[in-house]
Amino acid sequence: MTDTSDGVRVRVPAKINLGLAVGPARSDGFHELATVYQAVSLYDDLHAVPGDDVTVEVDGEGAGSVPTDASNLAVRAALLLAERAGVAEGAHLRVTKRIPVAGGMAGGSADAAAALVACDLLWRTGLARDELADLAAQLGSDVPFSLVGGTAVGTGRGERVSPALARGEYHWVLALADGGLSTPAVYAECDRLREGREVPDPVVPAALMQALRTGDPAALGAALHNDLQPAALSLAPDLQRTLEVGQGERALGALVSGSGPTVAFLVPDNEAALDLSVALSASGTCRDVLRVTAPVGGARVVEQVVHR
Ligand code: C5P
Repeated sequence: MTDTSDGVRVRVPAKINLGLAVGPARSDGFHELATVYQAVSLYDDLHAVPGDDVTVEVDGEGAGSVPTDASNLAVRAALLLAERAGVAEGAHLRVTKRIPVAGGMAGGSADAAAALVACDLLWRTGLARDELADLAAQLGSDVPFSLVGGTAVGTGRGERVSPALARGEYHWVLALADGGLSTPAVYAECDRLREGREVPDPVVPAALMQALRTGDPAALGAALHNDLQPAALSLAPDLQRTLEVGQGERALGALVSGSGPTVAFLVPDNEAALDLSVALSASGTCRDVLRVTAPVGGARVVEQVVHR
């Protein structure tokens, strides 16, 4: 029997950063960034149904370490939307996680973006897409990108996104680590490692943009760069062993994703992805291995039943 009660289901992707240039710390505690995001085919699902308050339940990958109180980013997103739109309704959010928690892949941001899209439809707020993007930016640096997906350049603290000219489909292998890394701790470690050094304004490397424009995976592999990687490796030294596994295989490049600890390997094709997955699993250096393709679109509605 078909369920005809109201509900909106949204699917939202994880991201990796192909380039992440980190500038000096700003007076608001954030760092000025120049980054290139790419959305990959690893998704969280969020199902929103009407409720008296805004509540959340979480299942799936790492669900036990996701808070379900008012600090949950999806709850904060729904409450912010209700306030902005002057909505008196509530919603119950059911999140199914596949994106690793605290993995440097914007899992929390993805759920916030999904909550915005789902509750916007459930409550028929009538807000414009750029108003949702504005709320997204208030919720977190990566949330606006989770709305749009694809391949995009992020500036400011990462919240100002514009689509990048990018051609081709890319194959990635993701090595998931045991446990997570705290994003603020990784930025603080980055500052500590660079203490006393002049930190230039962040720029996206020209070679990276050129590789994307031409759709050249080998050139992209060579241009991958993450300024947070030394800090992530300093806090989680075992990641070095994970990175080294790619060297014996046909990986075109490898880097820590965002603030880590997930490691992303770019490979030429599906066969190379399978070979590297086997090598990574056999190495015992990671908790799990996933194969994904990119780019994919941002948060999208996969099911919508709204009466009235
Ligand atoms: O924006 P978001 O909530 O994802 O940021 C989490 C934390 O990461 C911030 O509180 C800050 O410590 C750090 N961060 C930063 N500079 C950025 C983005 C994040 O220092 N551009």
